[in-house]
Amino acid sequence: MTLPDICIAPSLLSADFSRLGEEVRNVVEAGADWIHFDVMDNHFVPNLTIGPMVCEAIRPHTSAPIDVHLMVEPVDAIIPQFAKAGANLITFHPEASRHPDRTLGLIRDHGCRAGLVFNPATPLNWMDYVMDKLDIVLLMSVNPGFGGQQFIPSTLQKLREARRRIDAWVQAGGQPIRLEVDGGVKVDNIGVIHAAGADTFVAGSAVFGAPDYRAVIDAMRSEILKARGLSV
Ligand code: DX5
Ligand code: ZN
Repeated sequence: MTLPDICIAPSLLSADFSRLGEEVRNVVEAGADWIHFDVMDNHFVPNLTIGPMVCEAIRPHTSAPIDVHLMVEPVDAIIPQFAKAGANLITFHPEASRHPDRTLGLIRDHGCRAGLVFNPATPLNWMDYVMDKLDIVLLMSVNPGFGGQQFIPSTLQKLREARRRIDAWVQAGGQPIRLEVDGGVKVDNIGVIHAAGADTFVAGSAVFGAPDYRAVIDAMRSEILKARGLSV
């Protein structure tokens, strides 16, 4: 089952790092729409993960979009490297860039789709003057740095507000903007998260922590359909 307006983006953070290529192939085969790629620098967040070399290494393993989530500070210097490594979307935290408007332009100039990421305590008004440069808005539903954390419930209200802003923008003739959520997304809460306005769902431990990736991804899509009042 595929839902054309919905993206499920498993986060490689919870994959087996000793065999990432195989994990990417398996999860796309199981129905993943995007691959979410978490970049942490032990500076902006208290953890250290993977960079452009690993992005380049997994690129040949799939044609699915690679969704690079930058948790690094500063941001700009690494953007051309990720574009060259095959990233399709690049998102960053506005607090980590001295000039977020310039950084969004830089991402697009390198041929990628661009977006801002909002930490749980970061206000949505960073969007206000850059709506025309956004392809995606990502709301963190945990504090960034680690997989396997609990979904923060106040994210639901923030999603509704972000959805309202995006819909108003599109209705006024603006380009489409995806609304992504990241952290603590599971089969049992994805329905309410979708009902609050999200159309793109990062899931790390929920997918890679399960024995059957397809079963989890299918169950997530079923819950989204149920939230719309439709049966599978
Ligand atoms: C956290 C990362 C997430 C993480 C989500 O900083 O940005 O993408 O992998 O993991 P789960 O789905 O386990 O909360
Ligand atoms: Zn992420």
